[in-house]
Amino acid sequence: MAGRIPQSFIDDLLGRVDIVDVIDAYTTLKKAGKNYKGLCPFHSEKTPSFSVEPDKQFYYCFGCGAGGNALGFLMNYENLDYVEAIEKLAAQVGMEVPREESSVAQQTREKNQALYDVLQQSARYYQAQLRQHPDKQRAIDYLKKRGLSGEIARDFALGYAPPGWSNLLEAVGTDESQKKALLNAGMLIENPDNKKHPLYDRFRDRIIYPIRDNRGRIIAFGGRVLGDDKPKYLNSPETPVFHKGEELYGLYEARKNTRKLERFLIVEGYMDVIALAQHDISYAVATLGTATSTNHLRRLFKLVPEVVFCFDGDNAGREAAWRALEQVLPLMEDGRTARFLFLPDGEDPDTQVRKVGNAAFSKQLGSATQLAEFFFQALGEKVDMNSLEGRARLGKMALPYIDKIPRGIYHQLILDQLGVITGVDPARLSAMGSTSPAPPTAMDTVSVRNRPPARKRQIDKSLCMKAVNLILLKPSIVATIGEEDELAEIEAPDIGLLLQVIALAKQHPASSTPELLGRIYATPLGSQLTQLLNREQITPTEGIEQEFREILAHLLEGHRRRQSHHSFLEEARQKLHSRRNEAPGGENGPE
Ligand code: CTP
Ligand code: MN
Repeated sequence: MAGRIPQSFIDDLLGRVDIVDVIDAYTTLKKAGKNYKGLCPFHSEKTPSFSVEPDKQFYYCFGCGAGGNALGFLMNYENLDYVEAIEKLAAQVGMEVPREESSVAQQTREKNQALYDVLQQSARYYQAQLRQHPDKQRAIDYLKKRGLSGEIARDFALGYAPPGWSNLLEAVGTDESQKKALLNAGMLIENPDNKKHPLYDRFRDRIIYPIRDNRGRIIAFGGRVLGDDKPKYLNSPETPVFHKGEELYGLYEARKNTRKLERFLIVEGYMDVIALAQHDISYAVATLGTATSTNHLRRLFKLVPEVVFCFDGDNAGREAAWRALEQVLPLMEDGRTARFLFLPDGEDPDTQVRKVGNAAFSKQLGSATQLAEFFFQALGEKVDMNSLEGRARLGKMALPYIDKIPRGIYHQLILDQLGVITGVDPARLSAMGSTSPAPPTAMDTVSVRNRPPARKRQIDKSLCMKAVNLILLKPSIVATIGEEDELAEIEAPDIGLLLQVIALAKQHPASSTPELLGRIYATPLGSQLTQLLNREQITPTEGIEQEFREILAHLLEGHRRRQSHHSFLEEARQKLHSRRNEAPGGENGPE
């Protein structure tokens, strides 16, 4: 692995290339004023909304929101990481990419490389023992008993550490530096008090599960006894190349063996991952004896829009599921799904899939519980849902959790559902706030960033801003809007902004996005909207109009519900008033 690329080189490189040439190789650009226009290479379109500005050496697509410099373009278009994009761009102009590395960094890299090397050699050694060790049959029988084929054993590079104290030590620790690397990689244990074996193999008489990182490098091992001895599993310790809390067992294999990853199934054990793969469910991953963290989930959501957690159906399983729910809430952006699969008591994914087979297991997977359902169910168990107090308590308990969900349609939907369940208007629930909001997870920048100062306003605000954004992307979607009067009654500051943009887009029905923006920039709205557009955003290329409609429907529905709630209360108040002889009542919501 090479060291850092000096920033001065990157600046040089960007100064040397012209973004127009770079992009012109991918999509035909035509000059339009001082800029260039063309069909966007990132989404399919018939009229050009892709613009390249030579002055700023920047591109932007008004259609899909893609934007960046020449390097960003290559990263996006060619699916390259930053360094790869630099290398590609440099090659195009015939520049050699220099590397700088501090001597410390260089030493670390060389040391780590030594660990990767001995770990790889160890894995090969263990795999070979499964084929040639005199005791191999015990190991093979064990794997067969657990239903694994030779093919799956090969895919997961399973091996066998034979009985004895110094097999690996002798096979791989051929000189001092190899021994040192083995020790640092956690493969050997040092104990000077043990005169017979001051240095000995960590894994003895165990089935070996190599743990690989994203790039497929072996970074650690898990080892399982063949019988009922304790401890059942032994894992590599933390080392410079293995950080247990960050890794997911099976992730590399899932990416390698699944043609198109659509979801991940999160399970607990090595054997669960492998047994599922044996039954053609090749997208399971396991944390290594630790709870699933937001970090783990963030990695998975970079690759797929859906995760399914798999737990035992018993109490411990449901408690673990709740902890998983807490970790996933801050990542629940619109378009993502999290579900929970509860297995029958006493089963784990390994035993379950072997018992029922792929078809039945997949079916169970397909009907796994949605996050919202599990959330309300679990909270509902803690209160008496038949009493108003119980429902109000549920509302109070739910809010700090809902607060962790990034603002968007999903957040709004859950809030609405809370309203339905408790019988209390969500806007009122929101305004009540929570006396002790759940603290955001330490690593959770998402929830911190999205935490609103005033809850009620923020909810509608982000929806309104979203709607504005959609109009900017596709001004024609306002053509059929006729609910302006009603929208104007909604109490949210950004409703005004939304209405102004709707009005502007209606006045100029044939405007393109840049034209509409041009008109808006001439008004006081301009700077607000610039901020909106500059913010990074995931913008759908399809379904803009539908999403816009959904947002409006939401705003209106919330408003209408509040209205009818108010008139219900008003009516109730009047009734009470006219029956003076009766005891005064409280503001109980409708049943
Ligand atoms: N684990 C561990 N150390 C242990 C026990 C468990 O690291 N002493 C981790 C392993 O990653 C293991 C997972 O926790 O795969 C789940 O443990 P458990 O449910 O006890 O085992 P299973 O995976 O069901 O193991 P098996 O099916 O092989 O009995
Ligand atoms: Mn098991």
